[in-house]
Amino acid sequence: MKKGKVDALLGIVFGDEGKGKVVDVFTPQYDVVARFAGGPNAGHTIIFEGKKFVLRSIPSGIFAEDKVNIIGNGCVIAPDLFMAEARELESAGYDLKSRLHISKRAHLILPTHRVLDRAYEAAKGKNKVGTTGKGIGPTYSDKASRTGLRVGDILDNFEAKYQALKARHEQILKDLNYTDYDISEEEKTWLEGIKYMSEYPLTDTEIEINQYLKEGKNVLAEGAQGTMLDIDHGTYPFVSSSNTTSGGVCTGLGVGPNAIGEVFGIFKAYSTRVGSGPFPVELFDETGDKIREIGHEYGAVTGRNRRCGWVDLVALKYAIMINGVTQLIMMKSDVLDGFETIKACVAYKKDGVIMTDVPFETEGCEAVYKEIKGWNCDLSSMTSEDQFPQEFKDYIKFLEDELETPITILSVGPDRAQTIIRKK
Ligand code: IMP
Repeated sequence: MKKGKVDALLGIVFGDEGKGKVVDVFTPQYDVVARFAGGPNAGHTIIFEGKKFVLRSIPSGIFAEDKVNIIGNGCVIAPDLFMAEARELESAGYDLKSRLHISKRAHLILPTHRVLDRAYEAAKGKNKVGTTGKGIGPTYSDKASRTGLRVGDILDNFEAKYQALKARHEQILKDLNYTDYDISEEEKTWLEGIKYMSEYPLTDTEIEINQYLKEGKNVLAEGAQGTMLDIDHGTYPFVSSSNTTSGGVCTGLGVGPNAIGEVFGIFKAYSTRVGSGPFPVELFDETGDKIREIGHEYGAVTGRNRRCGWVDLVALKYAIMINGVTQLIMMKSDVLDGFETIKACVAYKKDGVIMTDVPFETEGCEAVYKEIKGWNCDLSSMTSEDQFPQEFKDYIKFLEDELETPITILSVGPDRAQTIIRKK
């Protein structure tokens, strides 16, 4: 029997590219949908049968009754937030407990990890990362320090292990002089979340996924965040704490590189970033405000204003290289409908030096733009690429030539129907 493949669907800039919508469109082609990195810092908005859901830890395949959904070993999970997210779906009529499998090797986010996240940010002064405050960094730090608690720990003598790690965190917080916090209420819900999680299949998901592949089943690895937030390849230290890139699919699910099939890279027709850190294409003028307003660029998890700018080909080329992207998906093209002229960043400039590769340090880089004539008409009602105005076709061709990768899917609006799959 032909072995199944793991296709990866990855945000390839700073996240928030609209992965939720694409997974929803893709899901029918897969047997399994799996998350491989990150945790409740993600917010995948899905509009399904007229209802809007924001998924944080749960894979987007949960809406299709016949799919298995997996939270892989590379993820971190907050039991209280997971419980709230899951119960919302349960009350909307979705059965989760039989179809959502959680890796025993995924790490648990404790309430004190969230306090540590705040304490570390406070200590950073003006160099704050601008984290989502969900305890992501401290949890991955404990994983690397080999002091973390894993989902599988729930099954054996959990209370003692929890108290030991909590005490360790409390000591660190004391040493940091960060003592003005109270987790008593949060902790109650968190412990209830632990009990709730234990009703789910807590499994060796790496064995399970490899078995599915052996049976010829296909897996969609659903990315979170984006390449420029990757702990190794992003704009360090202004990054998240996991490998958000295709290498993270292998480690975060326990599959070999030869199991990877297509690598879909999602980007928007423009750029956004939440949190701090270098962002050479950032627009501080009314064009940036216009993009934010038309694109509704406000954080799904934190509600923060997203920083907006033109598309960044330097970052995109880098991300395509790092991930081995085989196909590109361009989202939110319609947001640029009302612009006479649009711009694309083709290089960075720093101290008079022009760079076309992402440098070690992007802080202080300025964007060098190419101006492109806008299409200046409404794309959102178009249903096939034949209807596209010539200027939009030219923009697509320009991006494909620059990025040396085909753009196979285009999104021209939030609805599932506003997704145009291009002819090969
Ligand atoms: P953390 O992942 O909460 O530690 O945040 C680290 C950085 O990643 C911050 O700049 C966050 O704003 C950013 N970040 C984390 N998750 C997401 C996401 O899902 N979309 C966009 N940015 C994110």
